[in-house]
This record gives sequence, C-alpha cells and structure tokens, in this order.
Amino acid sequence: ESYVVIYFRCIIVEKIMSEAQLKQVVFPVAGLGSRFLPVTKSIPKEMLPIIDKPLIQFAVEEAIQAGAEEIIFVTSHTKIAIEDYFSKNSELEKRLRDSNKNELIQTIHPDYLKNVKFSFVRQNEPNGLGHAILQAKNLITEDFFGIVLADDLILSEVGCLKQLKDIHSKTNSSVLGVFSAPDSELKNYGVIDASQEDELLKLNSIIEKPSINEAPSNLAVFGRYILSKSIFNILEETKPGLNGEIQLTDAIRSFLSSDSVFALEFQGRRFDCGSKEGYVSAIVDRASHLENFKEIVKK
Ligand code: G1P
Repeated sequence: ESYVVIYFRCIIVEKIMSEAQLKQVVFPVAGLGSRFLPVTKSIPKEMLPIIDKPLIQFAVEEAIQAGAEEIIFVTSHTKIAIEDYFSKNSELEKRLRDSNKNELIQTIHPDYLKNVKFSFVRQNEPNGLGHAILQAKNLITEDFFGIVLADDLILSEVGCLKQLKDIHSKTNSSVLGVFSAPDSELKNYGVIDASQEDELLKLNSIIEKPSINEAPSNLAVFGRYILSKSIFNILEETKPGLNGEIQLTDAIRSFLSSDSVFALEFQGRRFDCGSKEGYVSAIVDRASHLENFKEIVKK
C-alpha cells in the first residue's frame, strides 16, 4: 500500500474512533434531597449507600464504562462529601498499608479512577435541571457530552450510558434514555413523542411532566442523556418553564427544530433511588445478587 493510502486509512480510523468517544460526563448533584430528610441534612442523597457503595460511585463507574475521562459535578456548598469521596485519602491509605489491609486500598482508591479527571462547578441557586447543566458550559470542550442523574440507579450487564453511546456512535446525534412508565407516573418525567425509524426511535417532541391527557406516549426520560453541546446556546435562551425553573426538556424541544434526537429503551433494571421505595428495592436487589447476602434476603 502506498503511504497515501495508509495516510487516508489512518484518518478514517481516527474519525470513526473519535465519533465513538464520550469523554465528558456531567453529574448534576446540587439538589436538596428533601425526600430523604433527615439523613440528607448532612449527607448528600448521592452518597446514600446501596449496602457499602454510594449511589454516586455506581453512576461514575457507569460513565467510565462508557469511556468518560472527565467527570464534571455541578454541585452546591452542601455537597463537599462528594468532592472528598473522589479525592485521595493518603492518611487512610497509609494506615491500611501499615496494617496489611492492601485489598481495602483498592476499594477506596480503585485503579479505574486513577486516570479520571474530576471537575467541580457550583450551582448557586436551585433553578431546575436545565440551569444546572448550563453551569457546566465553560468546561465542555467536546461536541457531545453525557449527563447522568445519580439517583436513577441502573443495574445492567452493559452500562446504560454505554448503551446510549452505541446509538450515538451510529447516529452521531443526541440520545436520551427512556423507559415505559405507567400512566400514573408520567406526571413525574419528561415524556417523548417518537417515531420508529429503522431500528431507532426518533423524537418528534418532548414535554415536561405532562398530565395524563397531555402525555404523547408512555415513554419517559429518566436520568441518562447524551447531548450536543449546541444545547448550551439554547439553554441560555430558555425561559423559565414548569415551576418557574429552566427545564432541560424545553431546551431539547427547541433543539429538535434543527437537529435529530434519538431515544433508547435501555436493557437493565432501573431503581428510582430518589424515592424510598426505589432505594429499598435497589438494596434488596443488590443483596440478592451478592453471595454473602443471598440467604439473608431469602429469610
Ligand atoms: C428531571 C427532568 C425530567 C426527567 C427526570 C428524570 O426531573 O426535568 O424531564 O424525566 O429528571 O429523573 P426531576 O426529577 O428533577 O423533577
């Protein structure tokens, strides 16, 4: 092969690989967690443990499985525990090493976190999901970025964000994770109107927390998104919507007038850990899959 052919092959391979990347993932974690008071008075709801591992760690692991190299927390002054959790604790590591508990060092500072960059940006007023995402604008350098809402815990073989990324790689477009919600729950979510296009679901519209009469379908958006960074220009122009807040859903609806957005019904078990019922179910589910706890769950 001539050098020219090899050169063009390299460019094509590089292009394919760059399309398949999702390097930056935003985690909005500034919410008050009032549904979990009193514990959330001093512990961020994202730090609630599913046995021994906090929700936020499941979510970060999912992002890393999808290829994330930078995790961006949109946080508030009450969420310092999250920053501490992902920082190195040299004193604790030394103590564990001195007492020959090396296996525990892996649990507090696992290898897969070593090359990940953690960034933090403050959301100084609670003003909706759209407003929270807008705070990350200056940190996003990639054309597309992920969003993970950590209180939606997804347990699946292939991480949920990776499943979305595979659709993003095929379409080079924004992708939302959706699930089929019962009628009674539609009022809690963004709900989409979509058409089947080949194997894919393509959005026609999306509406925030519709009444049962307004809901265009039963497909509800939960906490996983891959969005084009053009969404920031739209968010800057988005007027307060439902509850007087800047809604990400409203920005996505405007975005649809110029760009394609796809939806994916993911494979896996989803637990809404923003609710106590979902949180308890998640613990029972995880316990029933762990050797040490199977018997206890059965009893
Ligand atoms: C937000 C979004 C909503 C989405 C939901 C998923 O609502 O506004 O569109 O369906 O997250 O959890 P929130 O739960 O913050 O009220």
